[in-house]
Amino acid sequence: MQIINQLEILRMATASLRTNQKRLALVPTMGALHDGHLQLVRAAKTRADAVIVSIFVNPTQFGPNEDLDAYPRTLEADVEKLRPLGVDLVWAPAASEVYPAGFATSIHVEGPSAHFCGGARPGHFDGVALIVSKLFNQITPDVACFGEKDFQQLAVIRRFVRDLDFGIEIVGVPTMRDPDGLAMSSRNAFLSAEDRKAAIALPIALNMAANAVRSGEDVGVVCARAQSDIVAAGFKSVDYFALADAETLILVDKISEQPLRLLAAARIGNTRLIDNIAV
Ligand code: PAF
Repeated sequence: MQIINQLEILRMATASLRTNQKRLALVPTMGALHDGHLQLVRAAKTRADAVIVSIFVNPTQFGPNEDLDAYPRTLEADVEKLRPLGVDLVWAPAASEVYPAGFATSIHVEGPSAHFCGGARPGHFDGVALIVSKLFNQITPDVACFGEKDFQQLAVIRRFVRDLDFGIEIVGVPTMRDPDGLAMSSRNAFLSAEDRKAAIALPIALNMAANAVRSGEDVGVVCARAQSDIVAAGFKSVDYFALADAETLILVDKISEQPLRLLAAARIGNTRLIDNIAV
């Protein structure tokens, strides 16, 4: 497994991985790898001949008051987790390699970025679109795997990949959960023991709400009840709990033939957790 941090060397290494028309898969990550990330790697392995994992804590997707400095950086441990999975290459550049002095380009995605985390984290999805576009240009994979846990991110990526003609297959991989149902996330490490216990209220509320909406209950009533259940369980507040079209993320208030998704974000302790479920 090669570990590369310079673009010039990356280009030579990917060219050699690609010989004989081999298919390349990319799994973009910000490190602090958990089983959810390893599941993305396993999904990538089934879809390509060679797998590249990028590990880069991308500054342009963090707002001024967000946890960029506190974000865990655990490169050595991450590399050891990837080794047994047969990853071919780890791309772990420094910020100065990705955003050299004078960097002056941005990407703005509308549509699916408008609501939900887009409202609470202005500029976040533009930063994600910028880094993912750069990774696509640096590596030119045939396929890239992203977790459904960040469902809005996945919708934004699918949108700009289509809009900018990247011609890369985007695979959404189902969320890995702890045995009690909490979605795996690097941010779970910030939860106190008490908050970790209370946090399962989020997936429980999503499951109950999905069943209620499917059985024809009013969407507004269901979402309001879910929000109060989450707060009653120990969360400080709920940023959103809503039903949306799974592709456009436009809010909907009734079920239809279209694939729909319930999406939620809520704060517990100093941590903001997100989760979602298909309806
Ligand atoms: O989901 C993440 O970890 C990040 O947003 C991503 C896609 C690696 C871009 O930095």
